[in-house]
Order: sequence, then C-alpha cells, then structure tokens
Amino acid sequence: MTATLTILGLESSCDDTAAAVVRRQGGRAQILSSVVEGQAPLHAAFGGVVPEIAARAHAERLDHCIEAALAQAGLTLAGVDGIAVTAGPGLIGGVLSGVMCAKAIAAACGLPLVGVNHLAGHALTPRLTDGLDYPYLMLLVSGGHCQFLLVRGPDSFDRLGGTIDDAPGEAFDKTAKLLGLGQPGGPQVEAAATGGNPARFAFPRPLLDRPGCDMSFSGLKTALLRARDGLIAAQGGLHRQDRADLCAGFQAAVAAVLAEKSRRALAVYLDERPERPAFAVAGGVAANLAVRTALQDLCAAAGVRFLAPPLALCTDNAAMIAWAGIELLAAGRRDDLSLAARPRWPLDLQAAPMLGSGRKGAKA
Ligand code: KG4
Ligand code: ZN
Repeated sequence: MTATLTILGLESSCDDTAAAVVRRQGGRAQILSSVVEGQAPLHAAFGGVVPEIAARAHAERLDHCIEAALAQAGLTLAGVDGIAVTAGPGLIGGVLSGVMCAKAIAAACGLPLVGVNHLAGHALTPRLTDGLDYPYLMLLVSGGHCQFLLVRGPDSFDRLGGTIDDAPGEAFDKTAKLLGLGQPGGPQVEAAATGGNPARFAFPRPLLDRPGCDMSFSGLKTALLRARDGLIAAQGGLHRQDRADLCAGFQAAVAAVLAEKSRRALAVYLDERPERPAFAVAGGVAANLAVRTALQDLCAAAGVRFLAPPLALCTDNAAMIAWAGIELLAAGRRDDLSLAARPRWPLDLQAAPMLGSGRKGAKA
C-alpha cells in the first residue's frame, strides 16, 4: 500500500446517505469531500425510520452522492486508491444498497474494497480529526448508539459497557414527544430545560446501584410520563415552568448517569496507564451542554484530555468510513466480492451481547 491513500467511503446503514473522499498523506488526514443526504423528511410522518423507505432512498441517492463527493474532491474514480463501505451494523436494506454499490465500483474499476463496521467509523473519528494515539476511551452517545469503547487499533476494541435498552438520544426524543415538543427532541428538551429546577422531580438514576458500565434509559422516560400525568391530573395541564422543571430533571438524570458510568470506564482505562490518556465522545447527545460539561469536568479532575469532534463528524457521515477504510487497508485488510452485509456486527466479540435494538435499528 502506498504512503498516500485516497479512499472513497460510503455510508447507508440508517437514515443518512453519504459519500466522502479522504486522503492520508505523510501521516496527515485530509477530508477532500463529505456529502451527507439526510432522509428525515421521508420518515417524519412515521415517528421513526421506516426500513423499506430508507433502503429505497439509499439505492436511489447513493450514485448522486458519490458523483458529488468525487466532483467536490476534484477527482474521478481513476484518482481513488480504494473503496470503503459500511457493511453493518444497521438496517439490512440500506447496508445492502451500500455494499452492492461499493462492490460494483470495486469490480468495474479494479479497486481494493474494504467493509467497515459503522461503529468503528465513529470510534476512529478522533484519529481523523485530531490524530489521537491508541489506546483511548470513547463514548458513543446518539439516537442509535450508547457504548463505551476502549479503542486499541483499527480492528481492536473492548466494549466496557453500553445501554441495555434505549439510547440516550432516543430517550430525549421520546421525552420531547411526551411534552409536545418538536423533533429531534434533544435540542428541544435542552432549550426547554433553561430556567428549570432539576431537583423538583426525583427522577431515577438507573443502574447506578449496579457495578460496571452498562446503562439503561427507558425507565427515565416512564418516570417522566408519570410525573407529567400526575401534574395534568392535579391541575388540568402543564405550565411552562412545569415543562422546564421536567426537562431539567430529565436532562440532569441523563447527565448524571453518563458521568458516573464514564467515571467507571475511565478508571478501567487508566488502570492500563496509557501514556497520553484521552477520552473522546461522539454522537448527537454529545452536543448537550449539561452532558458535555459533566464529562469535561470529569476529565479535568482525572487529568485526561477530553475531545469532541465537530458535530458534522460526530453524526453519521462517510468521511469516518473512508478514514476507517484507510486504517484497515494500511493494516493489510482487504475484502473481496463475497463481502456480506451484516445487520448485527458487534465490535467486541468477547463482550456480552447487548439487548437493545432501538428505533434506528440494531445497536451492534
Ligand atoms: O448522532 P446523531 O445525529 O444520529 C444518530 O442517532 O445516529 O444523534 C441524534 C440524536 C437525536 O436523538 C437527538 O435528539 C440527539 O442526538 N441530540 C441531542 C442534542 N442534539 C441532538 N440530545 C440532547 N441534547 C442535544 N443538544
Ligand atoms: Zn451512527
């Protein structure tokens, strides 16, 4: 493999169709283009991602995204050294669209092909953005994912724990729905929480009484539903302050659970005495100021570098897939045309399987 690698990445595992071109040259990474076409309007009326609609949209739009990504990079396929594609986990129809497309290009152009685990794409992003050294600790926290990963190499991950039911973003979205706020719920709940009293309602801190780094968020939303119904029964509706207090209480509970479980994950990681310890977060929920501040404070107290890649690279995109492809190809990994789409694909085969499957498809 040459020192300079220019890779076309494809992502289609959920509700974003994406293509990107990333180059690594002399140890430095450069995103030449990153095109993301979200499908939110197609699914809006259904309250979640509809797999068949997603698959058709991916199949229709992937070639347009690839054309746009190549054009923005100022390249044709002749200037690309390989194709990296998300081969799972995710919604099978979407993953298949991407894998078939990547295989066709690889076969037609005689290019190396590599299947990338979507979660590895997220987990390796801090290396793309900040050149972070292995090993580092990663928290993926979005509407579809929630897990702690000790990242040791492009194909080497220890999962220290994760959600056993909802992802936090899912819980934020459901909370917004229960309170009549818009979607996506995270930013709406965060805004509504301004001026709220987080202590007014005693929301639970699920699984904090149990050792380890596993988390649970579905009970929180049930507690919120009960508190809401109690208020409605007592006073006939919700005042603005009630909504603020409910949102502030819910958000404080999520932040507290994530902070405590992060503290435990950090302890496991620091036990290995990494030379330059670092903790990175990715995913939409990392945008939440209460969550971010709690994690930042934790890292400051532990003397650990805290990193959050820019939001556009935290959420689903193909630059992360292209980058993971660069690392895998450079390490000698290469797939052939038998590459299969894998709806479930845990990063760490030693870790206990996760139970949650989630609104946006399989979590691992
Ligand atoms: O990573 P992402 O864009 O997509 C996937 O879930 O794959 O994350 C979106 C999730 C949504 O559930 C959204 O409500 C949540 O992240 N989110 C937030 C905030 N911004 C986005 N949650 C809490 N606070 C926010 N400010
Ligand atoms: Zn994702």
